[in-house]
Order: sequence, then structure tokens, then C-alpha cells
Amino acid sequence: MSRGPRIALKIGVWGGCLTPLACLVYWGATDDLTANPIDFVTRTLGDWTLRCLLASLALTPLRLLTGVAWQMSLRRLLGLFAFFYACLHFSVWIALDHFFDWPEMLADVLKRPYITVGVAALGLLLPLASTSTAGMVKRLGGAAWRRLHRLVYAIGVLGVLHYLWLAKVGVVDPYVYAALLALLLAIRLWDWARRRARRLSASRVAARRGGYHDVAGFGRL
Ligand code: HEM
Repeated sequence: MSRGPRIALKIGVWGGCLTPLACLVYWGATDDLTANPIDFVTRTLGDWTLRCLLASLALTPLRLLTGVAWQMSLRRLLGLFAFFYACLHFSVWIALDHFFDWPEMLADVLKRPYITVGVAALGLLLPLASTSTAGMVKRLGGAAWRRLHRLVYAIGVLGVLHYLWLAKVGVVDPYVYAALLALLLAIRLWDWARRRARRLSASRVAARRGGYHDVAGFGRL
């Protein structure tokens, strides 16, 4: 993809990802945050954390299925927006839900499984966000960086579990997110199995060729 459309796409993603926050600010300013504003703001920020996270996770499966790769340049931006919304979501919980009552928050983390996994997901997002720069990729080395960034799948699972655990009976949204995540993970697993099978068959062919040379006597000379 050439430079112009790439920049336009990034501006579109910035706009799309900042719109929910702009809406919240506008609704806050016009006193239109529903009868339970803290709950509404917490839930809206949680929804957008999960959406940005799953969107960033969907880019590689999309490449694997279609062969198209232009969307890969959006992975970092979407991942950072997921982190940004997770921090806002967490901050609202600390400041507005618990009024900085640390012992009460600690008790909540220990007592409620959905809070425990939410905090774990945010804790795992932290090293990914702090190593997202080109400089950090270089410092860690490509292989180690890729290994670390595989944590994003665990974060996706924790994020979906968090939603499944807190949702009331009859709410279907968390199941939709869970199905989407399962599909994305299945595509990655299929790709991994396919590459492994290819590697195995290539090494078998190489071993057979090695055997042929040996039979010819070159290996022993
Ligand atoms: C990657 C991390 C996280 C993700 C993806 C996430 C996602 C979500 C989602 C999707 C919802 C439900 C929104 C809805 O009902 O429409 C939610 C609600 C909520 N989350 Fe999170 N969350 C994360 C981290 C956290 C953390 C760290 C905390 C606090 C310690 C937290 C506390 C809450 C609370 C209190 C609710 C509302 C529960 C209720 O109203 O019953 N979340 N979150």
C-alpha cells in the first residue's frame, strides 16, 4: 500500500478509536451519561478495551486467510489503544468506583474473580505497551520480542473471561466476543499446524537426500 492511503487509514483508525472517548466527554458535558454514570462509563471503556484488543488480534488471521498484509501496520496502534482504554477503565474503577480506597480495592481483587482476571489482563498489557517501540524491538531482539508479544493471546482470553464472569444471565455479547476470539485462535493454531507439517516434511526430504549421498559414499569419505 502506498504512503497516502496508509496515512489516511491510520487517521481513520485514530478517529474511530477516539470517537467513543469523545462521545463520553460530550455526554458528560451535556449531563447525558444515563442514570448510573459511573457504571455506564466503566462499561463503555471496558467494551472499547476489548474491541481494540480483538481488532489487533484479528489482523494476523486476516493476513493468513487472504494473503493481504497492509493491515499489519495497524497492529501496534490498535494494541496501544487497547492499553489506553484499559488504563482509563481501571482509573475509573480506582477513582470513581472506589474513591482510592486501597484496602477495599485489594479485597475486591481477591474476592471477585472477574476483577482478578481484569487486573491480570492489564498487568500483562503493561510489558507489551512498554516494549512496543522500534527501539525496544531492537533491544530485545526480534525472536524474544515476538515471544513476549504472544502474551496478547492470553490477554484476549483473560479479557473475555472477565466479561463472561461479570455479565448477567441472558446477556449474549460476551459469548459473541468469546466465539470471535475462539475463531481467531483456531486460525492461528491451524497456521501453526500447517507450518509445522511443512517443516517436518522438508526435514524428512532433506534427511532422505542425506541418506542418498551417504549411500553413494560421499558422507563416509
Ligand atoms: C484488558 C483488560 C480489561 C478488559 C478487556 C475489560 C473489559 C471489560 C468489559 C468488556 C466489560 C463489560 C462492559 C459491558 O458490560 O458492556 C467490563 C466491565 C467492567 N470491568 Fe473491565 N476490563 C479489563 C480490565 C479491568 C480492570 C483492570 C478492572 C478493575 C480492576 C475492571 C473492572 C471492571 C468493572 C468494575 C466492570 C463493570 C462491572 C459491572 O458493572 O458489573 N476491568 N470490562
